Amino acid sequence: MVRREFWLTAMLLAGACSSPKEEAKVAPVPTLHEMMTRKIDVEADKIWAIGNAAIDDSASLDPAKMTARSWQELQESSERMAAHAKELSALNPVVVTRQGVKIADEGTPGAPSPAAIQGHIARDPAVYRSLADALMVHAVSLADAAKLKDAPKAGALLNGLDGVCETCHLEFWYPEQKAFVEAVEAKNHDPR
Ligand code: HEC
Repeated sequence: MVRREFWLTAMLLAGACSSPKEEAKVAPVPTLHEMMTRKIDVEADKIWAIGNAAIDDSASLDPAKMTARSWQELQESSERMAAHAKELSALNPVVVTRQGVKIADEGTPGAPSPAAIQGHIARDPAVYRSLADALMVHAVSLADAAKLKDAPKAGALLNGLDGVCETCHLEFWYPEQKAFVEAVEAKNHDPR
């Protein structure tokens, strides 16, 4: 699907298609930055807001603090996130951002540049796709748990969501921090 749209866009750019009606139908292929800021992060914020309002002292989801409406919203946001993650995985080619559109912290000394990120993804597109797919699977499971109003399962998936985001960010956004984060985690898990 995305591939087809890509070719349609390419044809339009080449002037192969003259009907303005057809042009209007073709949505531009989103950049990774647009997917993050307009789709993935928007749903994540909604999911976390629902979770934060219903997390109890033991950091699990308290079913007494959930309403029929919040369960439904959790399900719907998770379903949208799953669809967005599928789209993220299918981006072909993956373009980090458009010329002139800055990503977070771009220009700050030491912050990753779009070109650097583009390079990391080009080196390992299969890993990029598998991490986008992992987000899709996680979001589908969360939607299922919300549908069943399964608080323990939804709570665990809610708590695990940021880890799924972070794994990809560490791999492709700021991999230079990966060794540092792994060292900190190893220390935290060290029983001594
Ligand atoms: C398959 C990889 C991948 C996954 C999964 C992923 N991201 Fe990202 N994300 C990136 C990359 C690469 C960047 C850096 C490019 C950029 O900043 O736009 C990024 C950047 C961002 C940004 C900064 C956007 C900006 O202003 O530049 C936010 C916010 C974000 N991600 C949120 C999330 C959240 C929330 C999740 C999980 C629910 C998530 N991401 C999952 C790859 C991923």
